[in-house]
Amino acid sequence: MDLKTHYLGLELKHPIVASASPISQQFDGIRRLEDSGAAAIVMFSLFEEQIRFEAESHDFFDHTSSNSFAESLSFFPNMDDFEAGPDEYLDLIRRAKRSVEIPIIASLNACTPDGWSEYALKLQQAGADAIELNPYFIPSYTQSSMDVEKQYEDMVAAVRRAVVIPISVKLPPYFSSMGYTAKRLVDAGANGLVLFNRLYQPDFDMERQDVRPSLELSHSGEIRLPLLWIANLYGNINGSLAGTTGVHRGHDVAKYILAGADVAMTTSSLLKNGTGHLAVLMAEFVEWANRHGYRSVEQMKGSMSKKHVLNPAAFDRANYVKVLQSYLPKHLVG
Ligand SMILES: Cc1cc2nc3c(=O)[nH]c(=O)nc-3n(C[C@H](O)[C@H](O)[C@H](O)COP(=O)(O)O)c2cc1C
Repeated sequence: MDLKTHYLGLELKHPIVASASPISQQFDGIRRLEDSGAAAIVMFSLFEEQIRFEAESHDFFDHTSSNSFAESLSFFPNMDDFEAGPDEYLDLIRRAKRSVEIPIIASLNACTPDGWSEYALKLQQAGADAIELNPYFIPSYTQSSMDVEKQYEDMVAAVRRAVVIPISVKLPPYFSSMGYTAKRLVDAGANGLVLFNRLYQPDFDMERQDVRPSLELSHSGEIRLPLLWIANLYGNINGSLAGTTGVHRGHDVAKYILAGADVAMTTSSLLKNGTGHLAVLMAEFVEWANRHGYRSVEQMKGSMSKKHVLNPAAFDRANYVKVLQSYLPKHLVG
């Protein structure tokens, strides 16, 4: 089977990509991901707060000005707790590019329109093959949905002006009109979209009555929302698609490709099972594809998208109504 795929204009030897995770925080982890068979690596994110902290520290020492950003940083982890500051991040990319063959996609996580451009250029100069933007902010009460979408577009446009390498945007699933927003982001200069970002959802500690930060690894069932949207977007936007949540088994990879993704990304399965799990994903994916007569990833792509599936209504409201009507609680059956 021909496993080649194209993502953001990059040719990849197969469609399984390591998404942003702590594994890439160290050079050894990057090496391990390549040795274990990842087709490309999305680096862990560099946060806007880290970049601004460094810039303001320099400013402070150079001009002894006040540090207006300090207050918000009191909620942020101690800068010493990060594996890599902005300079170390660039060094890691340079080192990775010298030593590994597979594409290295840098990741920038920012919350303001001006938090991106300068650093995006530095990432390009360090040799990154592409940049994944992860805009993350909770909209304020004064922002309309149009304001929020405009903020995303402005972020993408600013980075597009700054760099020539491909850029992708890791999106949250909560836009009022996902298809329209996706098109606008591609028009603003994104070469691809990554569906979806898993948003931070704190829990309550009921004994201490405190808000508890909690990060749980995903499970395969979480694939369904990004799958729905990849199947919808396939053939309707002029850019690449990546599925990024819930890939734990080979058939999860197959699902994303059938829906229309160019690549399937994984983090939780690697944190849970180790990077050796990439070989399991690949073997299971190839076994499934061979058993179902596919000769290439390109042939598989989108064959179960809304454009190509026999029953496109299965993605729509009609099916939603049917599914709700057909559900019978177990205690009512027989
Ligand atoms: C411990 C951990 C760290 C992560 N760090 C980042 C990060 O730095 N940047 C980012 O964009 N996503 C980050 N993610 C999100 C993953 O890249 C991925 O999108 C998400 O976990 C969903 O994929 P999965 O189901 O394969 O885990 C992280 C996830 C985990 C579990």
